[in-house]
Amino acid sequence: MSGTSPASPTTNDQDLVDRTVVVIGGSSGIGLETARLARARGADVVLTARDPDRLREAARQVDARSVAAFDATDLALLERFFADLPEPVDHVLVTGGGPYYSSLADMDFAAARRDIDDRLLTTLAVARYGAARMRPPGTLLFIGGTGGRRAGVGLSLISALTAALPAMVASLAVEVAPIRVNLIAAGFVDTPLSAALLGDQLDARRAELRATLPIGRVVGPADVASLAVHLMTNTALTGATYDIDGGQQLLTNRAGSR
Ligand SMILES: NC(=O)c1ccc[n+]([C@@H]2O[C@H](COP(=O)([O-])OP(=O)(O)OC[C@H]3O[C@@H](n4cnc5c(N)ncnc54)[C@H](OP(=O)(O)O)[C@@H]3O)[C@@H](O)[C@H]2O)c1
Repeated sequence: MSGTSPASPTTNDQDLVDRTVVVIGGSSGIGLETARLARARGADVVLTARDPDRLREAARQVDARSVAAFDATDLALLERFFADLPEPVDHVLVTGGGPYYSSLADMDFAAARRDIDDRLLTTLAVARYGAARMRPPGTLLFIGGTGGRRAGVGLSLISALTAALPAMVASLAVEVAPIRVNLIAAGFVDTPLSAALLGDQLDARRAELRATLPIGRVVGPADVASLAVHLMTNTALTGATYDIDGGQQLLTNRAGSR
């Protein structure tokens, strides 16, 4: 039949053989689990993060091909990282720091401006510098959230950025085609970032989510990694946002918040 996709979705468990996956923010949480799964599916992986010791340990765990320690919000370093890659790469996942929550009264505008820069300009820069070094039908993958889809005190900035990213990703997918661009929108994911944000409330939050989420369990980084690898291998997917929150955004009570 003519006009069908050249590469159909596959369930082959070595479907990333001969592929290179770059994970920016790959030493912890969602990035590290995605690197681990991509490697298990046959990919070569390149990891970046800021802390070189943690990065080396992550690279050892997943047998990474190479690492680069730099702050991805420094756009000159980001450009140099992609320019210095010895060969074209197939997929790029971008994770990074946590969101900036603040009530309007307490908002530090300098920190808010940095957060806007870090999330929006870093996404644009990865798309420009990364897509130039990628080969189709690879995907750029960014991570946003579902928590900021609600309105609430302290959420004004994060809700604006949450709404902006799907729109940006859709336009980028048109602009850098045939490289694909997709967004993962996560709810609570049980990672070191969540542990740091919640402190001694972490166990109570996990218990609350187990009791209230439609899936009856907490979403972990391996769940997000599985979605990320699917987005890499299913070459029909571009310009879209994929929610992964165990049904958290469907809850109307407090459990629906972060
Ligand atoms: N966990 C959740 O519930 C959740 C929900 C929705 C969205 N997200 C988003 O998903 C992303 C990953 O979250 P996670 O929970 O996996 O966090 P995590 O466990 O803290 O991992 C973050 C990774 O990104 C690296 N990183 C942070 N800032 C960076 C920077 N400026 N430049 C380069 N690398 C940087 C960290 O290493 P270094 O610190 O050494 O740089 C680490 O490898 C974040 O953007 C977060 O906002 C998370």
